[in-house]
Amino acid sequence: MIIPIKPWLERASDASGQVADRVFSAGEGSEGFRGDSIQSGLRGKAHHEDKRMEFYHQPIMPREILAALEPVKGKQIFDGTLGGGGHSEVFLERGAHVVGCDQDAEALEYAGRRLAQFGDCFLPVRGNFSDMDSLLRNVGIDRVDGILMDLGVSSHQLDEPSRGFSFRDDGPLDMRMDDRADFSARDLVNDWDEAEMIRIFRDYGEERRAVRAAKEIMKARRQKAIDTTLQLAEIIERAVPRVSGKHPATRVFQAIRLAVNRELEMLEAALNKSLEVLSEGGVLAIISFHSLEDRMVKRFMRRHSTPFIDRPEWPEPRENLDYCLALPSRRAISPSDAEIEMNPRARSAKLRVAVKLED
Ligand SMILES: C[S@@+](CC[C@H](N)C(=O)[O-])C[C@H]1O[C@@H](n2cnc3c(N)ncnc32)[C@H](O)[C@@H]1O
Repeated sequence: MIIPIKPWLERASDASGQVADRVFSAGEGSEGFRGDSIQSGLRGKAHHEDKRMEFYHQPIMPREILAALEPVKGKQIFDGTLGGGGHSEVFLERGAHVVGCDQDAEALEYAGRRLAQFGDCFLPVRGNFSDMDSLLRNVGIDRVDGILMDLGVSSHQLDEPSRGFSFRDDGPLDMRMDDRADFSARDLVNDWDEAEMIRIFRDYGEERRAVRAAKEIMKARRQKAIDTTLQLAEIIERAVPRVSGKHPATRVFQAIRLAVNRELEMLEAALNKSLEVLSEGGVLAIISFHSLEDRMVKRFMRRHSTPFIDRPEWPEPRENLDYCLALPSRRAISPSDAEIEMNPRARSAKLRVAVKLED
């Protein structure tokens, strides 16, 4: 069976890769367009039925995600990054069934309360999205019609000092999304050797002062253990000059977070698993915030969406045995200016979408 390539993304992406709002005011299925709930998501309000729930996370590009995954009654969606449940909520409101996965117990607790009103249509599971096949099998599901991965950390994780992700407020140097993991930022900063730190500061943080930052850490930890986020931020400030209003520790903190949670390895595993788990015509949607992640997603999607491969040493192009995806758009989609204005954390987000072809 040939899966028709959905025309919506081709039409919707303008030259800058941004999606025009008007495209989504039509063709949203028989229920029509429910902009009210999307707007409430954009404003980042906690669920309206429970005013006591604090703000947790503002879902990124909800319109574009809806257009991509087309959640309707009877569809089964795996939300691999449940977070505050904002994306899952818009899927559930349209009648889809959602398995919401997060490795963070706090996210499951919060989203579980927020989405309890959807009863059996919502199933929260704790785990890593890289295990999506077994997580789904454990709840009796072999295939899903859509997969969403909204990568990275939630605003709640970033803003809560006790989670140790932030250099704005002091907290224990932790940065684990999954508190059952036995390796934290404190272990990395106090135990890793200099060369390993330089590598991740460069590769994951794209920090030009990687060597100096690692040397400052080595020097500081010889005096006493580095236990807190502000202690580490002050050490980094000695090595990295402040430019363009960004805190000097931004890149090093990002690198440590990616390493502690093995985020790139988990993404690579999840991308491969998604091919096993998606049903024919199913949609894979990934939002990334880091150039390394976006590059990995882009290469993966390209590799699986090219029907033939040609090499100079071959007499003719050969069939690509990995071909199993169609790309509605080869370009990444970016949030609209209006969304960025409302939610500056959306600024670096990139959405890529692929559709699974026949097995
Ligand atoms: C950006 S937030 C998702 C926000 C969510 N889409 C919403 O609308 O509220 C990312 C969430 O994914 C979780 N997460 C990140 N990597 C994960 C992984 N490999 N497996 C499971 N959960 C992960 C984080 O703990 C965090 O709660």
